[in-house]
Amino acid sequence: MAATPGVLEEGQVRAMFDRIAGVYDLLNSVMTAGLHHRWRARAVDLAAVGPGSRVLDVATGTGDLAIELARRGCEVVGSDFSEEMLVHARAKAPQLRFEQGNALALPYGDDEFDAATVGFGARNFSDLDRGLSEMARVVRPGGRVVILEITTPTRPPLSTFYRVWFDRVVPALGRLTGQSQAYSYLPASVRRFPGPAELAATMERAGLERIRWILTAGGIIALHVGEVR
Ligand SMILES: C[S@@+](CC[C@H](N)C(=O)[O-])C[C@H]1O[C@@H](n2cnc3c(N)ncnc32)[C@H](O)[C@@H]1O
Repeated sequence: MAATPGVLEEGQVRAMFDRIAGVYDLLNSVMTAGLHHRWRARAVDLAAVGPGSRVLDVATGTGDLAIELARRGCEVVGSDFSEEMLVHARAKAPQLRFEQGNALALPYGDDEFDAATVGFGARNFSDLDRGLSEMARVVRPGGRVVILEITTPTRPPLSTFYRVWFDRVVPALGRLTGQSQAYSYLPASVRRFPGPAELAATMERAGLERIRWILTAGGIIALHVGEVR
């Protein structure tokens, strides 16, 4: 288990997602009351892509963000290092291209895509600077990088509700499904992830400009977007 709460080595992260792949979609829908589809749609809006755009969805998991991109007519590649998560993605959307790859060393050339997205994945990168630099590298200049992530609300009443939800309900749901380690890691990983301004600064270091972000769902969800310099 992690020495620091919310931090796992790369191999442990991959093994954890391989283990929870079968319950991931169900728990996502229960934990967000189905709202995650709306957040993904907003992420795709921010990517400013459409029919014919080539888009890479990094840490695609079971593929929901890639599926939303394809629904808008994009040519999508979904990439993830967990083969088990990809099995579920391929079962949901056999017509899409899902490939195994590490976000910290993406197996794609420079400027290959018009945009890159990552949904609830950046938090798990063992090296955030490197993961975001890789996303910027594979996107052409002027193309967008979009990050959809859970963030910690600072103001009550949401901050109080959030503590109860994340510290009590989420780990309890994890225990119910036999995945207590993964669903205790989740709140801890959110807590240690940079806040919106700090994440924007990391994006700038990664080679992005015109960075902005939107907080939604009462400040629980942050959507960041930047353009490749
Ligand atoms: C919480 S899931 C998110 C999945 C999906 N993007 C979604 O929106 O539901 C995080 C995903 O990130 C993947 N992941 C974490 N670190 C990664 C890395 N370094 N390279 C590739 N995938 C990674 C995990 O395997 C997992 O599928």
